Amino acid sequence: MASFPALVFFLLATTSLHSRCEAGKVLVYPVDGSHWTNMIKILEALHSKGHQITVLRSSTSWYISETSPYYTSITITQKQPQNIESQTSMATFMRQTLESRQYQGTLKGFFEFYRLFFNLIGDTQKSVANVAASIIENKTLVKELNQSEYDVFLTDPVFPAGVLLAHHLKLPLVLNVRWIVGGDPHYPIAPSPLSYIPVVFSHHTDKMSFIQRVKNVIYKGMLVYLHRYVSNPPYQAVCDRYFERGVSVMSLMQGADLWLIRTDFTFDFPRPTMPNVVYIGGFQCKPASPLPTDLEDFMQSSGEHGVIIMTLGTLLGDLGPNVSEIFAAAFANFPQKVLWRHTGPRPATLGNNTMLVKWLPQNDILGHPKTRLFVTHGGTNGVFEALFHSVPILGIPLIFDQYDNLVRMEAHGVAEIIDITAMDVKSLTNSLQNILDPTKPYKENMIKLSQIYRDQPIKPMDKAVFWIEFVMRHKGAAHLRTESYKLPWYAYHCLDAMAVIAVVGLFMLAFTLASCRCLFRCLTRMKKSKTE
Ligand SMILES: *[C@@H]1O[C@H](CO)[C@@H](O)[C@H](O)[C@H]1NC(C)=O
Ligand SMILES: *[C@@H]1O[C@H](CO)[C@@H](O)[C@H](O)[C@H]1NC(C)=O
Ligand SMILES: *[C@@H]1O[C@H](CO)[C@@H](O)[C@H](O)[C@H]1NC(C)=O
Ligand SMILES: *[C@@H]1O[C@H](CO)[C@@H](O)[C@H](O)[C@H]1NC(C)=O
Repeated sequence: MASFPALVFFLLATTSLHSRCEAGKVLVYPVDGSHWTNMIKILEALHSKGHQITVLRSSTSWYISETSPYYTSITITQKQPQNIESQTSMATFMRQTLESRQYQGTLKGFFEFYRLFFNLIGDTQKSVANVAASIIENKTLVKELNQSEYDVFLTDPVFPAGVLLAHHLKLPLVLNVRWIVGGDPHYPIAPSPLSYIPVVFSHHTDKMSFIQRVKNVIYKGMLVYLHRYVSNPPYQAVCDRYFERGVSVMSLMQGADLWLIRTDFTFDFPRPTMPNVVYIGGFQCKPASPLPTDLEDFMQSSGEHGVIIMTLGTLLGDLGPNVSEIFAAAFANFPQKVLWRHTGPRPATLGNNTMLVKWLPQNDILGHPKTRLFVTHGGTNGVFEALFHSVPILGIPLIFDQYDNLVRMEAHGVAEIIDITAMDVKSLTNSLQNILDPTKPYKENMIKLSQIYRDQPIKPMDKAVFWIEFVMRHKGAAHLRTESYKLPWYAYHCLDAMAVIAVVGLFMLAFTLASCRCLFRCLTRMKKSKTE
């Protein structure tokens, strides 16, 4: 008789326990633009597991909408949009960067490239640091956030306001990261020898000649400068004002509980890593869904030749008439059909095999069996989608890390790279022909790489969700964090220990030598006195 109520009680207890464990509260400080397009994918996955999500967004946000079925938002009022949030300033930056390529390989080109980059990043960091300060200053908001008792703080640290807020609210910190301001996200936590780890913007692979290693050190120097003198000062001002002594963005990032890094070793070169790093590169990829009928008809109309897909990213619509004409004329030479995401005016040389669209469902099209080639600017998202669906790549890098992403694909033998400022119809046609040529190994290599990428025990998205929940369940993941970041640089490299050992060693050596000499002298003297 007692067993039935007991059973009910047991069920009630386990369900309530279950829900208490499972449903958590997540506070998110995202980065706008293409970084948001994959942050939202993680938020959707967390939402589907029953977690409550709150997103901090600025009133000038470009991509991050105020209302969503997946999260509630808190809007921080800002007078001016951050550079990185504004299409016009990004377009200007891209135009100037491409113009500076005419000096490529010269000292002028080198400094012009970094000048543009430092300006863009510096301005953005200043305004993001202001957002952080204005949140911390707003006592009602901080009280509200504090009382909400979030379980975890999720942020993208390329603009690290979220890192400061997590510290202020004393919340466990999970980073969803592709880059940090000082370059590769591994730099602050894992050993990163410059001898085989190419620095971003170097365009090197992991096999570097002596000259390339010299350059790699110089490129690293530029990133150190960027961090020290461009990115860090506005945040350091916030840290000095509101936090205890010795706190910096770097030390807070090094103290993060978990790093969800958006890369994978089928993409990036092998390197040392840490226990609190989880690789989730390509987590947004999924099997293709059916296409809208007009696109499906177009794909099918390509017959045995298949389709070339071309898109240069969310940020970068039209690149000007001259470049568009080159693409249009080159595409017109091919028996393949071409699907081109193009927002500018219709090029005069457009072939009747080419269809222009304002937007395309990239993942579904790359997963379509008729797709033969992907012409891309080399953003991380697109490269991973091509890798997932095993489509070889023609890379047209424009800005940021795009060239370096494509260098990785080229090193795997699945891509060619062409410079948009130096190409003409002939060279573009050649490159396209090379990749489409069935006697060349691009497609075959991509299929092999894709099989390796997909051969994982847990899907990257499930990994991301599991580890975020892990941090919520255990209120952090301190047991995975090494002690390295608490050490000063000389202790990290054991220079102090080695110095002491060297001094003691030298002292003992000197003592031994002196004793031997003394002994020898005594013996010879004794010998002498005996013989006398
Ligand atoms: C502070 O935050 C509250 C609550 O989000 C908001 O209503 C208020 O406008 C904010 N104050 C300032 C000065 O931004
Ligand atoms: C949050 O609340 C706790 C306890 O209510 C308090 O000790 C702490 O100072 C608050 N933190 C902030 C940043 O206001
Ligand atoms: C485009 O090409 C024409 C003719 O070659 C040239 O005069 C013009 O300056 C070019 N425009 C741009 C924006 O490069
Ligand atoms: C497309 O153009 C090619 C050459 O310019 C021509 O041979 C072909 O008939 C055209 N196809 C259609 C459907 O108009």
